[in-house]
Amino acid sequence: MARINDNFLKLKAGYLFPEIGRRVGAFTQANPDKAASLIKCGIGDVTEALPEAVREAMHKAVDELGNRDTFRGYGPEQGYDFLREAIADNCYVNLNISADDIFISDGSKCDSGNILDIFGQDNKIAITDPVYPVYVDTNVMIGNTGDADENGRYEGLVYLPCTAENNFVPAIPDEKVDIIYLCYPNNPSGASATREQLAAWVNYAKANDAIILYDAAYEAFIQDPDVPRSIYEIEGAHDCALEFRSFSKNGGFTGVRCGYITIPDSVTGASASGERISIKQLWSRRTSTKFNGASYPVQRGAEAIFSEAGKKQVAELVAHYMGNAKLLREACSEIGLNVFGGENAPYVWVACPEGLTSWDMFDKMLEEANVVITPGSGFGAAGEGYFRISAFNSRENVIEVCTRLKNHL
Ligand code: MLT
Repeated sequence: MARINDNFLKLKAGYLFPEIGRRVGAFTQANPDKAASLIKCGIGDVTEALPEAVREAMHKAVDELGNRDTFRGYGPEQGYDFLREAIADNCYVNLNISADDIFISDGSKCDSGNILDIFGQDNKIAITDPVYPVYVDTNVMIGNTGDADENGRYEGLVYLPCTAENNFVPAIPDEKVDIIYLCYPNNPSGASATREQLAAWVNYAKANDAIILYDAAYEAFIQDPDVPRSIYEIEGAHDCALEFRSFSKNGGFTGVRCGYITIPDSVTGASASGERISIKQLWSRRTSTKFNGASYPVQRGAEAIFSEAGKKQVAELVAHYMGNAKLLREACSEIGLNVFGGENAPYVWVACPEGLTSWDMFDKMLEEANVVITPGSGFGAAGEGYFRISAFNSRENVIEVCTRLKNHL
């Protein structure tokens, strides 16, 4: 008899975004006349074309593979040096991060789930609420939790509520945890964390011998020069934090797939016997066994993001999406809704009108305005009463969404 991993049976319903897709599919099937005018602002998937510099680099790389003399087979599992160096030189200027601290992957979603391979099963894990659902579900899958309660909160996880009162940056817990997931700029609330707030978390992690898993997938959208782009801008973070980054949202790589984890030498965890073990060595070992590297044309495309032309094109993409975020914020404010985020992140987080739950709001927007949003409760119990609008769309669609919001709310 082949036994399954029973932990999967603890998972609640479907993963949020396929579940939204299922509901939208049922709606369009029942209302085929509305399918053409449906506007999707649910999942944070980019809509604009891949930058020209990236496409050129990828074409060139494919041509290299088409010639026996320049053909490449398996690449280094941890990523090609050309990309690791470009990242170290461009993303970590004066932050004491070197190319060999950087591990290239096929995206941050995979990285944030896969990282659990190298941690033990008796860690106390803290996650924010609301949160990117991958952090929770992957902990459930690997057996780090008990069952969920009626609010969908899993036994064994420490939930850190993020509310309007704390500007969606959680208070430092009064108990000791071993691993903390933080994501800033935040998905889903669009909030950003100040230097002081991150410093408090780094100090907590160092004092408690904990590790911070810092998801910086949205750093390119930071507009305020005082908001830290990397956890390594904070003193002490090199001893206690891993950083996840992605080319998905800045470079339009949601379909192309490329991301990376940064792990400085000095981050360590304890073995069962108490010996200090380098996290970087473990991740490198895990990567060599389970991964054969992101594809060569993709890594060349990612490298091109750091060329002069690439930087300019990415800046234009970011400006486009942040222009959308501004319009969405203004439209929601104009109709009297309480709006958060959207200033340093491509997500606008909105309090539902009085008396409507997150899923009520999802249904109302779908059925009346023909717009897909994401219900806040899909990100956790503390997301109830909110909805998220993604700014990843064409300008034309965003202007139309603003009009529909005003007409239907
Ligand atoms: C989101 O909408 O939260 C993101 O697109 C999910 C992701 O990046 O995987």
